[in-house]
Amino acid sequence: MKVLVTGSTGQLGRALLESIPASVQAYGIDRAQCDLADPEQCRALVAAQRPDLIINAGAYTQVDKAEIERGLAFRINADAPAAFAAGLAQSGGRLIQVSTDFVFDGRQGVPYAPEALSNPLNVYGASKRAGEQAVLQQLNERAVVLRTAWVYSSHGSNFVKTMLRLMSTRDKVSVVSDQIGAPTSARSLANAVWAAVLRPTVSGILHWTDAGVASWYDFALAIQEDALARGLLDRAVPVLPIAAEEYARQFPASVPRPSFSVLDLRSTREQLGLDGIHWRTNLRMMLDELKS
Ligand SMILES: NC(=O)c1ccc[n+]([C@@H]2O[C@H](COP(=O)([O-])OP(=O)(O)OC[C@H]3O[C@@H](n4cnc5c(N)ncnc54)[C@H](OP(=O)(O)O)[C@@H]3O)[C@@H](O)[C@H]2O)c1
Repeated sequence: MKVLVTGSTGQLGRALLESIPASVQAYGIDRAQCDLADPEQCRALVAAQRPDLIINAGAYTQVDKAEIERGLAFRINADAPAAFAAGLAQSGGRLIQVSTDFVFDGRQGVPYAPEALSNPLNVYGASKRAGEQAVLQQLNERAVVLRTAWVYSSHGSNFVKTMLRLMSTRDKVSVVSDQIGAPTSARSLANAVWAAVLRPTVSGILHWTDAGVASWYDFALAIQEDALARGLLDRAVPVLPIAAEEYARQFPASVPRPSFSVLDLRSTREQLGLDGIHWRTNLRMMLDELKS
């Protein structure tokens, strides 16, 4: 099976290319090979390569900046997957479109099922939702939309690496304590994506995160504790809980995010035949990797 992986330099793209199953020939596609901001290049890629499947792991992921780069965010997050879907609709291939918990508004107090109503609070979430709709409409049972959340890896920039930097350079760190989600290692996400690739009958919306839930504050405390234990930090600094509202006052350029975006994983675990691993276990594995 020939698979193209866009966003090959990103957290998920790299994790996918490090874990290619034996029955798959996978090729990473970077920005130089296909600029996702140009739908014509996306169509041309499908026509030239004729893949059996595309994993669209590339995305515009700068949540705050998307508010001022709305056009670019929509081109990359909505028009590019739409163009891949149009090409694959003709060639007969499948598409796995990676999406986000930010399609939800967070006002529901229980985990979001795949069929729950979306209502994005920001441009990033709206652009990703538009991408989801485009691929589901054009490819029907040959489309998978796999939503995830709070992704981190030892490569790239993410919350874990930001916390390690702030905790080693500041005297104290304030972290939002009233937004709840599920930290997810890029490795475990890649494993779920490959499971979907290898099951041709799986289609529609899937939800994948690591097991358990946390606030950003809980996540930060765990990062500090586990990093200290591994010698990745040499001193503990106070970690202070802060309300999202207060954070927004301090950083006015930050956009609203859902206060509760835990995804219901039950149907996806069943369809993919996977059990989740708790986020804390995966965090420790990532920190071990950083250490080595
Ligand atoms: N990170 C999270 O917390 C999170 C949470 C929920 C969902 N997701 C979704 O998960 C997926 C993977 O995220 P990630 O964390 O791996 O993202 P990432 O590390 O930010 O990587 C994004 C990738 O997209 C590529 N890209 C951006 N603009 C491009 C363009 N114009 N043309 C070609 N490539 C372009 C980047 O290439 P360059 O290296 O050249 O910039 C990079 O390879 C995305 O669909 C994202 O929306 C992520």
